This record gives sequence, C-alpha cells and structure tokens, in this order.
Amino acid sequence: MLTVVILAAGKGTRMLSSKPKVLFDLAGKKMIDYSINLALSLKPKKVIVVLGDKAEEVEKYISKYKVEIVIQKAQLGTADAVKTALPKIVAGSKVLILAGDMPLIDKELLTTFIKETTKDVSFISTKVETPDGYGRVLRDSKLDVISIVEEKDCNQNEKNIKEINSGIYLSTVSKLKVLLKDIKPNNSQKEYYLTDIITHGSGSFISKDSDKFLGINSREQLSVVSKIIWMQRAKYHLNNGVDIVDPSNCYLDDDIVIGSDTVIFPNVTIKSGSKIGKSCMIYNNTVIESSIISDNVEIKYGSVIEGSNIGSKSIVGPMARLRHGTVLKGLNKIGNFVEVKESELGLGSQASHLSYIGDATIGKDVNIGCGFITCNYDGIDKHKTIVGNNVFIGSDVQLVAPIKVGNDVLIGAGSTIVKDISSSDLAVSRSEQKNLKGSGLKYLLKTKKKKR
Ligand code: UD1
Ligand code: MG
Repeated sequence: MLTVVILAAGKGTRMLSSKPKVLFDLAGKKMIDYSINLALSLKPKKVIVVLGDKAEEVEKYISKYKVEIVIQKAQLGTADAVKTALPKIVAGSKVLILAGDMPLIDKELLTTFIKETTKDVSFISTKVETPDGYGRVLRDSKLDVISIVEEKDCNQNEKNIKEINSGIYLSTVSKLKVLLKDIKPNNSQKEYYLTDIITHGSGSFISKDSDKFLGINSREQLSVVSKIIWMQRAKYHLNNGVDIVDPSNCYLDDDIVIGSDTVIFPNVTIKSGSKIGKSCMIYNNTVIESSIISDNVEIKYGSVIEGSNIGSKSIVGPMARLRHGTVLKGLNKIGNFVEVKESELGLGSQASHLSYIGDATIGKDVNIGCGFITCNYDGIDKHKTIVGNNVFIGSDVQLVAPIKVGNDVLIGAGSTIVKDISSSDLAVSRSEQKNLKGSGLKYLLKTKKKKR
C-alpha cells in the first residue's frame, strides 16, 4: 500500500516571479501536472499535495485531479512540509515523497526504487559532474550512507562530492513519524530539512539516470528541462515513422498522434488533442491545436489551426487561419489570409485568397474568389450562410447572412448579395459601369500640375 506525498509549497524564490513555481508552463503543461500524473500512474491509495505559497491558485488548477491537498502555513522547510501531510497519510502504508519541481522522473524509475527498497527509510541518489545546488551524500569507509548535507552547509571537501540527493524518499509511516519529530532547524537556512530523515545506515538507491533528477529552481533550469522534454517527444515520433526535420525545434504536446511518413518542418507547434494523419506535410511556423488532420494533407507556412477537422488531400495556407468548428470535407484548398470559423466546405471547394468564411455551410466544388466575405454578424446576432454545390463566387463578393444560395449559381465579382439566389441563377449587384471619353487623362494632368 502506497501514499504519495508531493511537496509543492515552496516559495520558488529563485524563479523571481509573482506566479507559483509549480504553475509555470513546461512543454505544453504546467510543472505540477508532471508530478501529479506520475504519482497517479503508480496507482497509490492516496496522493497528497502539500501547498503553501499562493496555495489558492495552485489548488484551483489541480482541482481536476483526484488528490488531497494539505496546506503548509509557513514554508519552514521540506521536513515541515511532510509533517503537515502526516495526518492524512494512509495508516500502515509506505510513503513515497516527491517534489513538485522534478518533471523528468518517470514511472519505471520509481517502480524499481520501490521494489528494491528493503530498509525502513530510503532515498534515491545519483552521481553528477556538477552537483551545484544539490544536497551531497556522505558515506563512510564501508560506503554506507552517513547523511545528506545541503550545499549551503557543506565544507570544501563535501562540496566536491558528486553523489547528490534526488529529493525522492520512501519510508514506512511509523518510522517517518518518529524521525520527523526529532528534526531541528540547525542549519545555515534555519529550515527543517527533510534530508535529516536520512541517517547512518539508511537505504540508498543509486540511479544511473542522473539526467532525470534535474530540479527546476530557476528559469534557466526551466528552459533546460523544457528543451529535454520537447526533444523526448520528438524522438518518440521519429521512432514511430514520422519525419522531423529539426527535432530540437518542434513543439509537440504529449497526447497527440502523428501518422507515419508525415513530415514536420522546423518550428511547428502541435498542441493537445490533435491527431495528424499519414503522409502529411506540416510546414514551418504552423500551430495546430485540438484538430484532426486526415491523410495526405499539406499545411503550409505560418498557418494557425484550432478545433478543426481537415479532410484528406486538402491544402491549407500559407498563413491561413482555421478557427473552431471548421470542417473541410477533403480535397479543399484554403489559401493565404483566409479565415474560416464554424463553417463546413464540401469536397473540392476552395477559397484561395483573402477571405472570411464564418457560420457557413458551403457545398461541393464551390470556387470562392479573392476577397469574399460572409457578413455573419449584425452587431447582435450571428447568422448562417448556406451555399449549394458547384457554385462560382466571383472576387470581392459579400453574402449578407442569413442567406441561401442554390446549386450551380454564378455570382458576379464585386456583388453584395442580400437576397437568396435560386439554383442555376446568375446574380450581380453592382452599379452599371460608365466610361467617359478622355476624362481620365484630363484629371490626371490637372492633379500632376497641382502636385508640382
Ligand atoms: C532539495 C533537497 C536537496 C536535493 C534537492 C533535489 C532539502 C532540504 N533539500 O533541495 O537535498 O538535492 O531538493 O532537487 O530537502 N517545499 C515545501 N515546503 C517548504 C520548502 C520546500 O513544500 O517549506 C517543496 C518545494 O516546493 C519543492 C520541494 O519541496 O517542490 C523541494 O524544495 P526546494 O526548495 O526546491 O529544495 P532544493 O533546494 O531543491
Ligand atoms: Mg528544488
């Protein structure tokens, strides 16, 4: 039986921010998401999160999880934080203590640690080249653990020790209670250090994966860890048949699917809830969020796609914006500076340049000319535009909604359409053109003189 305690009450002083440290964005999630998801993945009896600094903000954010929250009123140190969680710990369980600022720890590591631990109190250590900032592990001549010394309390010799405390501990509840009682803030920071539960003969699990223990205490560390996570995700997709032109420069959230033979060009962001089909080309500077992209789709440079469903063999962009509720049935073309919202375009329909299509249902094989606008908003309400199949809409046309256009309709360029159009009709609504003989040149000469 296991209880996991996540320590997340610290002030995060080194972040120099008004925001709680564990709510910093990290590779598409918040920092705290990583430790909570990890704790829950172990299927423990209970997960307790210790909050303190700006607790309300964090509490609100993590209310989506099935975890218990305890509040550490004053941040007196990591031992004090665990003390506040004690009353909630399931009796007779083992207690796994994690920190809210170590997002690279994984389930496999913790499972092995738990399985291999035999002592009442144990912790994970690892060896690193630059141990700066971490607690150092002191051992005797038989290599048994003596204690952990925080860097600020280290003498010069101790500072040279490369074995560091990961900040992950496992203990029985009974032993933990006894040990916590005796901890005194006898150190340079006058804090109650949890590291003091580790005494001569405590268990230690030395992990070879030192990279997993990077803790985030500063923005610089945040950026380092963030890079590692993005890279891990890129590698995952590379190993699943996706081409990633520059794995160090793509931003893939962790719950997305990408089909094989799809190519991801540099600086592409694919956010949560997206599914990309096979053999797609996703070009540079594209952002895709909560969208489904079918097979053989091309998304060109600088496009932004959210809450959309794109049918196969469609071409979108460059610089197109597909907003929530966009459905392209397939073989569509949405060109540059076209914005679509809450609209469906039937098979083969296209809008190649500079248009706004909102709250519209457009049939099959419709050609939408440059500068087309659905005037869907009257200042109070939004209205629908319905266009049939095989319609040709000339350039610079406005359809003032609510409006219906039948099948096989032709709409002349520059028309503002305010009345429904029946199938097979031609609609034009612009004033007749007059050509005045020679007047153009006369006018131009006059203005030129004035300018001089
Ligand atoms: C801690 C360890 C150090 C270890 C390192 C690994 C102690 C004294 N030191 O140092 O040996 O090498 O982690 O990353 O434990 N917290 C509370 N309440 C408090 C203070 C802290 O909940 O009163 C939480 C913080 O929010 C954080 C975690 O405990 O999630 C660790 O605290 P932090 O201040 O980051 O300790 P480190 O200096 O990193
Ligand atoms: Mg830390």
